[in-house]
Amino acid sequence: MARPGSLLLMTDTAHANTELAARLTIDVVDGGGASGTMAEDVLAGLTAERKQLPPKYFYDDAGSRLFEQITELPEYYPTRAERELLEETADGLMAGLRPVEIVELGAGSSAKTRRLLSAPTAHEHLRRFVPMDVSREIVESSALGLLRDYPYLSVHGVIGDFERHLGRIPQALGRRLVLFLGGTIGNLHPPERTAFLTGVRGLLGPGDRVLIGLDLVKDVPTMEAAYNDAAGVTAAFNRNMLWAINRELGANFDPDAFAHRAFFNAEESRIEMHLVPSVAQEVSAPDIPLHVTIRPTETIWTESSYKFTVASIEEMLTGAGLRLEHCYTNEHPDRRFALALAAPA
Ligand code: SAH
Ligand code: TRP
Repeated sequence: MARPGSLLLMTDTAHANTELAARLTIDVVDGGGASGTMAEDVLAGLTAERKQLPPKYFYDDAGSRLFEQITELPEYYPTRAERELLEETADGLMAGLRPVEIVELGAGSSAKTRRLLSAPTAHEHLRRFVPMDVSREIVESSALGLLRDYPYLSVHGVIGDFERHLGRIPQALGRRLVLFLGGTIGNLHPPERTAFLTGVRGLLGPGDRVLIGLDLVKDVPTMEAAYNDAAGVTAAFNRNMLWAINRELGANFDPDAFAHRAFFNAEESRIEMHLVPSVAQEVSAPDIPLHVTIRPTETIWTESSYKFTVASIEEMLTGAGLRLEHCYTNEHPDRRFALALAAPA
């Protein structure tokens, strides 16, 4: 029999959960994986002249956890650099803009976003947080944590693809700040980036702003080390995409037969990440149907991470109908990162 103490505890917990649930909405547009267009993307990507897979398939449950580990690696400077910039700018930004809601695209765990939610003025004006991500688990767990820690806030999560479902972001409650952190914008190629930013422009009314985190060009060894960590977490993250494809599509990849390779392509100003087979791999997924041979002379290109300059940031924003209002950067040359604050042009 339960002792009264624990009964009381259970009632309290139930009450607390009801209270949290009243402030939470989650819309599932597309949880990625087999329910989305993964089969089409994988078939097209692996039968292309230059084999490639879209990076959004990194982020299943295991992939999201591996990414959280990447953000803490000694070699991976971008997260720390961006957190440092948020530390310096959050209070001023929030007091100046006084947003009623924050929409975060590719939100992940929203760990750094907490710095904005904790700004001294936030509880006066901020009512809602709208995280969008393809990874359902990470949005749900971060939403619960935020509801617990920020009693003034409601959370409306959207599980979907920021390249296809921006139209599913709920109607604005008032002045809006859109966030796109982590340098994720650099994972889009220039044409997709312009299309995406044009979509983001469409989420903004006259007084609204978007704050974008971008990694800046710096010395090559620093950039390359960030994607080739000594502990092998990035390699595991890269291979995790093959595990996800096996699980979702019934493919027979042997992920351990692929080496992780990441290098800076100076001409394109991007880190490229590839998976390279040590010996020829026969890969099939009967349901798609897919059957390909991947030779050691070729690679599967899984991701690009473009590196910017203040000039290239300004040009990119202008091309999408946005005006760069301020570009915050770190002092330290080895971990220069940028937070670009932009307004509708
Ligand atoms: N903003 C966090 C996470 C960055 S990692 C940070 O700064 O640390 C990139 C995040 O974007 C992951 O959570 C991933 O699930 C999400 N993501 C990647 N491609 C996406 C897409 N096409 N649509 C929606 N979310 C996507
Ligand atoms: N947006 C992050 C970046 O470009 C994503 C990322 C970091 C990443 N490390 C990775 C993606 C390793 C794939 C593999 O830096």
